[in-house]
Amino acid sequence: MDTTSPSLAPLPTSEPASIEAAVRQRYSEAAQAREAELCCPVSYDPQYLRVIPQEVLDRDYGCGDPSRHLRPGETVLDLGSGGGKICFIASQAVGPTGRVIGGDMNTDMLALARKSAPVVSAAIGYDNVAFRRGRIQDLALDVDALDALIAETPVRSADDLALLNEKIENLRRIKPLVADQSVDVVVSNCVLNLVSPQDKRKLFTEIHRVLRRGGRAVISDIVCDEPVPSHMREDPELWSGCISGAFLEEGFLEAFEEAGFYGISVLERQETPWRTVQGIEFRSLTVEAFKGKEGPCWEQHHAVIYRGPFREVVDDDGHRLRRGARVAVCEKTFNIYAQAPYRAHFDLVVPHVLPPLPSAQPFTCEPDMKRRSPRETKGAQYDATTEAAACNISGACC
Ligand SMILES: C[S@@+](CC[C@H](N)C(=O)[O-])C[C@H]1O[C@@H](n2cnc3c(N)ncnc32)[C@H](O)[C@@H]1O
Repeated sequence: MDTTSPSLAPLPTSEPASIEAAVRQRYSEAAQAREAELCCPVSYDPQYLRVIPQEVLDRDYGCGDPSRHLRPGETVLDLGSGGGKICFIASQAVGPTGRVIGGDMNTDMLALARKSAPVVSAAIGYDNVAFRRGRIQDLALDVDALDALIAETPVRSADDLALLNEKIENLRRIKPLVADQSVDVVVSNCVLNLVSPQDKRKLFTEIHRVLRRGGRAVISDIVCDEPVPSHMREDPELWSGCISGAFLEEGFLEAFEEAGFYGISVLERQETPWRTVQGIEFRSLTVEAFKGKEGPCWEQHHAVIYRGPFREVVDDDGHRLRRGARVAVCEKTFNIYAQAPYRAHFDLVVPHVLPPLPSAQPFTCEPDMKRRSPRETKGAQYDATTEAAACNISGACC
């Protein structure tokens, strides 16, 4: 059975190189002069815009604002950072204890961002932003370092090529553009759609790789309400214009699911389409997805109660939870439900005595969750009797 989702299905005819070349050329031109066609109006928090050079603001080719969801102290990676606007906003949102990395493959966009960075840091009084050159579907490869390697390793034979390939693999391993598990939040604004269909699955795997456990992706991108027909998908102008590579709306969320994320949800959805092409609506969606559901399951006698309002829900590990039922969960699932985005939906039942993890038994996670007897959480010998809690006038409890 072919389980490939429509958004990730390779195109039969388009070559990734031709898509990438069209994107590269379009954004080189768009770095030099503002291109109105590529703009999707977004209102950013004006307090952060004052310090950003006007030529960066003019070259706003975003479709949403993932920076709204950042917190002080976080390490952020912006995929396809363009002129640097989201990085400069993020730099202020995370503050001097946070860090921001902007990644883009386009040298003209990077030149604009790198030139503007000292202007912003002088105005805010600290410097926490760096721009790196790379392809977002291959975040291990530092393309500036690759250029230097190619310059010092001329290729005149197959043996030379083998040597260069070996050096490239070493470069990825020893000095990756973005290291494994080094980022708290991956953000992106209107870029993922530009990656060729052949590379989209790898792109989501890379986002997952660079995030630390418990980290999250907050991505604004363009989605469509119907599949884009092949004649539109093969048009380089529509590709580079964020139309042809748009995700089918449900496919965008499925792509995070396939890469191993959990707690995936839509934070913002543009109601009125940005563009309608041949009857297909294209609009901006901002999605959040968390990393960290992998790993062993241990029995510590935890329970949770799903509050509703749905009669039943299923999480990204396939656990099926019935509203109001006290069910047994492993220590890992308990800790996941105890945090965003799930916390508000659960009552958490903490065991009276917590067996230490090194002596805990493995827990078998099953789709149909078993009832947790309160005796297991309280302990078989528990027989306390207490007085009624003291009443206060407003919240009397008979
Ligand atoms: C639509 S613009 C968005 C720029 C920026 N995020 C903003 O909000 O203005 C797309 C940017 O992504 C970059 N880009 C496109 N495909 C890329 C890829 N595969 N790897 C790295 N950068 C890419 C382009 O060079 C361009 O700067």
